[in-house]
Amino acid sequence: MKRVLHISDVHVEQGFGQVPWTTFLDKRAVGLTNLVLRRRRFYHDAPRVLASLAEWATGESVDVLLLTGDLTALGTEPELRAARLALTPLLEAVPEVVILPGNHDIYVKRDLAFENRFGDLLRTDLPELATDGVWPQVRLFGDDLAIVAIESARPNPEIRRSSGCVPQVQLDALPAIFEHPALAGRVILVGTHYAPRRASGRRDSLEHGLDNAEELLQVCGQVELGALLHGHIHRRFFLQGPPLPLPLFGAGSSTHRGHEGGWVFDVTHGRADVRELSCNAGVFSLSDVRATLA
Ligand SMILES: [Fe+2]
Ligand SMILES: [Fe+2]
Repeated sequence: MKRVLHISDVHVEQGFGQVPWTTFLDKRAVGLTNLVLRRRRFYHDAPRVLASLAEWATGESVDVLLLTGDLTALGTEPELRAARLALTPLLEAVPEVVILPGNHDIYVKRDLAFENRFGDLLRTDLPELATDGVWPQVRLFGDDLAIVAIESARPNPEIRRSSGCVPQVQLDALPAIFEHPALAGRVILVGTHYAPRRASGRRDSLEHGLDNAEELLQVCGQVELGALLHGHIHRRFFLQGPPLPLPLFGAGSSTHRGHEGGWVFDVTHGRADVRELSCNAGVFSLSDVRATLA
């Protein structure tokens, strides 16, 4: 059995004291104002929540952590450094990690700041099928589990836009990945930042959603046994059944005060039982099985 913990949008909003003021002469000025006036009260405890998650993961023998982006608020280098520091107990508590950036981690420009802090965790077990640097990452765990991680975030320098898109070269790589003999018979968990659907089952808005949600869902229809796991929408939910070609699990924002948690997948041969991880009075606990992939 492999136990996967899926969390997202941990938004470690720290490190701003080391950010030069000239950094805020763009959309980040709006983001910083939003942070100070509204968001900070929800996320100032994020490092403590991550430390509690690390304790929980150790006690519950989590094998794999999947973190689907938005580790920071404005994607500055000091924030990414603070996020790495805050995540260190969890990264040390779990033997394997699959990680990808969210739009907040590459807020206004795509440089190597994310790779500089988290590049040691970006890897693929099928490098011959990677078409976009390391992407899509394919990770094989034991005999029964594969995680395919897609980068769907992009910089959004326009003030009112926070949308994403899976690069065509990554979409084009997916059919060969899903058909690869190394993935045959495994439960396949596809991880990305953006949500193809909101909790209502409808598409997200043009300004906030995934441009090519339909194309991604269509190609993921090849997955016979598995699910798509995402972040970006700060609400934990899952959707399954027609017309969706595979179940969708949104982890919500795993450190948001009052909404801490994520999803836990217990994967055995040909089956995954899914439980919700939630937090009450600072104590994490698992629900009964909420969904079964079989
Ligand atoms: Fe987020
Ligand atoms: Fe996001």
